[in-house]
Amino acid sequence: MLLSFLRKNLRLTGTKYGCGGGGCGACTVMVSRYDPQTKNINHWSVNACLLPVCQLHGAAVTTVEGIGSTKTKLHPVQERIAKAHGSQCGFCTPGMVMSMYTLLRNNPQPTMEDVTEGLAGNLCRCTGYRPIVDGYRTFCEGQPELFSKGDLLPLDPTQDLIFPPELMRLAEVKDQTTQRFCGERMTWISPGSLNELLQLKADYPQAPLVMGNTNIGLDMKFKGIFHPVIISPTQVPELFKVTQKPEGVCVGAGCSMSFLKSVLERSINDFPPESTHMFRALLQQIKLVGGQQIRNVAVSTLGGNIASAYPNSDLTPILAAGRCTLVALSKDGRRRVPIDKDFFLGFAKTVLKPDEIVLSVFIPASRPNEIVHAFRHAPRKESALATVNAGMRVWFNENSNVVKEISIYYGGVGATILSADRACQQIVGRYRVNLCCHVIYFLKIKLGPSAPGGKVDFRRSLTLRYEPLYEINITWNFNLFTPFVCVYLFTGCHSGGYTPKDCVLCVQNVLEGQSAQDPVGRPMMHRTALSQATGEAVYCDDLPQTDGELFLVIVTSSRPHAKITHIDFSEALKLPGVVDVITAKDIPGKRFRTFTGYDEELLAEDEVTCVGQMVCAVVADSKAHAKRGAAAVKISYEDLQDRIFTVEEAIEKESFFLPRRQIERGDVEKGLREAEQVYEGEIRIGGQEHFYLETQSFLVIPIGEEKEMKVYLSTQHPAFTQEAVAETLGIPSNRVSCHVKRLGGAFGGKVTKTAILASITAVAASKTGRPVRCVLERGEDMLITGGRHPVWGIYKVGFMKDGRITAADFQYYANAGNVVDESVLVAEKILLHLDNAYNIPNLRGRSAACKTNLPSNTAFRGFGVPQCMLVVESMIDDVALKLGRLPEEIREINMYKEVSLTHYKMEFDPENLVRCWNECMKKADFRQRRQGIDLFNQQNQFKKRGIAIVPIKYGIGFAEAFLNQAAALVHIYKDGSVLVSHGGTEMGQGIHTKVQQVASRELNIPTSLIHISETSTQCVPNTCPSAASFGTDANGMAVKDACQILYNRLEPIRKKNPKGTWQNWIITAFLQKISLSATGYYRGHDLDMDWEKQEGKPYAYFTYAVGCSEVELDCLTGEYRTLRTDIVVDIGRSINPSIDIGQIEGAFMQGLGLYTMEELKFSPSGVLYTRGPSQYKIPSFCDVPLKFNVYLLAGSSNPHAIYSSKGIGEPTVFLGSSVFFAIKDAVTAARKDAGLTGPFQLNSPATPERACLACATHFTQMVRDESTSGPAQPWALNI
Ligand SMILES: Cc1cc2nc3c(=O)[nH]c(=O)nc-3n(C[C@H](O)[C@H](O)[C@H](O)COP(=O)(O)OP(=O)(O)OC[C@H]3O[C@@H](n4cnc5c(N)ncnc54)[C@H](O)[C@@H]3O)c2cc1C
Ligand code: FES
Ligand code: FES
Repeated sequence: MLLSFLRKNLRLTGTKYGCGGGGCGACTVMVSRYDPQTKNINHWSVNACLLPVCQLHGAAVTTVEGIGSTKTKLHPVQERIAKAHGSQCGFCTPGMVMSMYTLLRNNPQPTMEDVTEGLAGNLCRCTGYRPIVDGYRTFCEGQPELFSKGDLLPLDPTQDLIFPPELMRLAEVKDQTTQRFCGERMTWISPGSLNELLQLKADYPQAPLVMGNTNIGLDMKFKGIFHPVIISPTQVPELFKVTQKPEGVCVGAGCSMSFLKSVLERSINDFPPESTHMFRALLQQIKLVGGQQIRNVAVSTLGGNIASAYPNSDLTPILAAGRCTLVALSKDGRRRVPIDKDFFLGFAKTVLKPDEIVLSVFIPASRPNEIVHAFRHAPRKESALATVNAGMRVWFNENSNVVKEISIYYGGVGATILSADRACQQIVGRYRVNLCCHVIYFLKIKLGPSAPGGKVDFRRSLTLRYEPLYEINITWNFNLFTPFVCVYLFTGCHSGGYTPKDCVLCVQNVLEGQSAQDPVGRPMMHRTALSQATGEAVYCDDLPQTDGELFLVIVTSSRPHAKITHIDFSEALKLPGVVDVITAKDIPGKRFRTFTGYDEELLAEDEVTCVGQMVCAVVADSKAHAKRGAAAVKISYEDLQDRIFTVEEAIEKESFFLPRRQIERGDVEKGLREAEQVYEGEIRIGGQEHFYLETQSFLVIPIGEEKEMKVYLSTQHPAFTQEAVAETLGIPSNRVSCHVKRLGGAFGGKVTKTAILASITAVAASKTGRPVRCVLERGEDMLITGGRHPVWGIYKVGFMKDGRITAADFQYYANAGNVVDESVLVAEKILLHLDNAYNIPNLRGRSAACKTNLPSNTAFRGFGVPQCMLVVESMIDDVALKLGRLPEEIREINMYKEVSLTHYKMEFDPENLVRCWNECMKKADFRQRRQGIDLFNQQNQFKKRGIAIVPIKYGIGFAEAFLNQAAALVHIYKDGSVLVSHGGTEMGQGIHTKVQQVASRELNIPTSLIHISETSTQCVPNTCPSAASFGTDANGMAVKDACQILYNRLEPIRKKNPKGTWQNWIITAFLQKISLSATGYYRGHDLDMDWEKQEGKPYAYFTYAVGCSEVELDCLTGEYRTLRTDIVVDIGRSINPSIDIGQIEGAFMQGLGLYTMEELKFSPSGVLYTRGPSQYKIPSFCDVPLKFNVYLLAGSSNPHAIYSSKGIGEPTVFLGSSVFFAIKDAVTAARKDAGLTGPFQLNSPATPERACLACATHFTQMVRDESTSGPAQPWALNI
């Protein structure tokens, strides 16, 4: 693929690997080709991970390195994303830059819609997208001036790279010749003519035609399908021919989606409007196929889409409904084949013969009185495969609404597209189009409870949802409905795209009298944002290959619980390039890591306890060889029956990691007895995948002397890895040095499993005596490393009629997985935050970490807090619904208001919590909007709006006191430049930038003199993890200490020469033999929690915040749009407001993902289904609130942290739940219409499926009444 060619062969590492499957955009590059017919040069953004290099003959490829650099000149797209604070960890940034660059090459004056469409295929896990959009909206006319013009490089298209003239000459050569490329195992043939293509297809009927490679490429990569011969007909002009006739348009099968889009747009202009229904319907679907990169270039072709015959193709239902035909061609002749139910035989099967190709597709113009419509529902508005889609066509008799012909096709409800022909037959000759009952009957037999993809009731209800809309569409076209109804249905805000309104970001001013040079409190750009935007920033896998380097691939268990009877790697060792296989027996030192009293094996020896557990590892001279070797390892198992997957099973079998904790204050039983009402409820919160864009990466280099090992890796905790590697190899820690330049995101997921993976890689390096690299593929990473704990929260609450809660009793069960990892600590933190912001006099919590046969879960931003707070807020919602009051009233009534004790007896002052609440209420104009929403909901039946406001009180610091310490090392060199080292790792949260600001203030020198190179155990030993939102608090203080020591040492020199420069003072100090190097140390807070006494001071202080969101929900599909979010945060005095706002927005969006869209799915035998961005949806550009305001609370201070600041990395994840509760609010309104009042359970994430079913519209009722649920096993587990 182009990606590995760029990174490994050309050493152009700016283009990143994020998923390898076209789903994240990190690998985006620009491909340009010259068209000899039009004499135009065309540019496309494409995913390099799916683009075969052989297909690039005659094309120019531009990578992020090609457009600008910090060494020469930046390109404006690089500069603006950096200056707008749109690059945090920076791993997604080169991809964003290249998508935007390509857009500007094609259109130097884009609209906001162009920008958001152009970026829709790019994911970012850090920023929350708003700053990226703000950086790039500066290229659009008529947008607010966010920067003064003089601060930005102008866009000057004349300065762009020119297309290579030799490629133009090459393209002008008319007769294309056949190209053949032979690899180690595979031959790639690109025929020069149609005849040659047909001959090749006759010679190699099983060889696939690779056009865009978006389907076949994925099969080869992820399913291990191998094709010795590949035919790539991209040079065959007939496949790209487009002809227009009065009856319709004939499109070559090789045309890309983007090209097809432009053909349809042209046809819509050229044909009379009444003939364009089919074109419009198809266009509507094409716009939502994948991201821009997938639709582009030769990628994702029309022929490929049809021939792939996937059940949720967006095109085939509409092509089938719309009377389209194709021309199939082979050496034996041509035939015209209708694209209909007889064409698709089953999953990925069509009537095409092996030697046939699809030459072209005919798309007919609509006839008079013929209407065509397409519908689509996907888990995310953009860049997501459809859950259900449909194509529908109806042809009426002239001058009447009697149906003459009707055709309906559904996608996503079976192994192939399904035709509702029986229902259609019933309709012909009738006046009205009301198919619901027929379709229900039809679907009942087609979609059973264990249907692949799950969501059975939802998918059934969606198919019905289309019917009334379709009816309205038709009647609308015939002007039979009143305008009111039409407007009501067509003013939806769910059509995708993020067109942001002006957002307010309100920061604090620096203190009066602060020197202009002092950067503390100022919105300084992330210190390496420019290098990140140019691709120069170095991540672990960007390190150049070292001599003799090997690659390691992990072999994992395929069984949830089994004895290992034999591992046979003899076949693997015979394969070319395979050097060795590493098993537990090869570990010279400790074979396990111990966490909270439990041992975790590095490599399983006798027994496996989950699918995905690491068993052995193959090392080979290349990644490809190591992968083949790993596939050849055969592990024999003897299955053990006592598997546990769900928390219910764990409870039944008492499978817990100990200790189980409990905390109580007051007398809960008495409180419940005395309450006027008691309610019992529950909520389930699903897990979450970290989805850091950079997967786990390691390079271990044996020095070859005295057992020294250098470990380069991406971890939040280098000292922990150092210790793990040393123990594993049985050598002292002083022989192992860990080096972390930066991480491409981490979010808690790069601590424990990272140390284990590094240890295994080190064993391989030690055994072979050669450097070993290991970079997990996205699917491996998702399978092996675990994520956030799913939690089942059960509660009993007692309350008074006036809304006061008198007692609450909580029980939490967290699904910990097969090993303990940090699960016991997560369960403890859950109990410490169960009160959130509420003063409940009688309060009890019990938590359990359930041991199951799923991959072990681990730390994740918030560490259990986002789960337990959702439980208490859900309880508040229930109380409100029970009392018929508004949730915000119950929140306000029960909130801490004055200096109080928490349930673990820690005193705190909630003044700033209350201030955040009041300010958020005011800034969000909450009460006024609540009235507007009520009015909207009265006037609309199937669209409902909801609003919610939630507070947070988040404890900062580690309850284990020793983890709060930090150290630093600061060197001043003779030229005055300063090198700062500290224990924190840079993972996008901007710690190095803040630390640079601290050093600048303390040494009173500009930040340009201060450098931070990496985090290394050689410079600063025994460091603590960069976690718990405490990194800057601790490391900032240590750096401050070191700088103050140095500054004080220089004092006599400064006094003697007050007018001297920094450089003078430094050289003088050197000559006077004053040490210019100092270590700094911060002891940290002495925090503790005594679980026996159930009291303590586990936190240094609290960060407070309040978030308010409003959504609009389509009750028929469950799709929602966040219309507005306002956040007020008490962050003390921010050291760097732009970085802190970046953390707030990024965490909010991660929370929005957690609570509304991210769903991990496991098979009934414990296999993780969701192993990449195509199955697991994190928020994208289209999910950002249309209006997103963030305010930092003014006039706040904090005596417990550096410069009065507060930790902010984790707290605001929970504010994403304001969207969850706003959805719940909208659902409540819908249920009210259905006559349902009172509490109801809405589990998290509130996906469209859950929201739609909870609305209880008559469609979902119809489906449930007809439900086929029975004894069959569901497709996915409910863990
Ligand atoms: C990240 C991602 C997102 C996607 N999102 C969507 C989406 O939202 N909606 C949607 O509908 N699809 C989506 N897809 C699927 C994509 O549209 C199809 O994979 C694509 O259309 C296939 O075209 P291709 O040219 O890449 O096919 P290839 O992968 O090159 O080939 C696929 C198959 O088709 C055969 N084939 C190709 N051309 C011909 C021909 N002319 N004659 C006969 N056989 C042929 C090949 O032999 C091969 O078996 C997505 C894919 C990816 C990777
Ligand atoms: S790495 Fe290519 S799209 Fe993710
Ligand atoms: S900055 Fe986008 S993924 Fe980190």
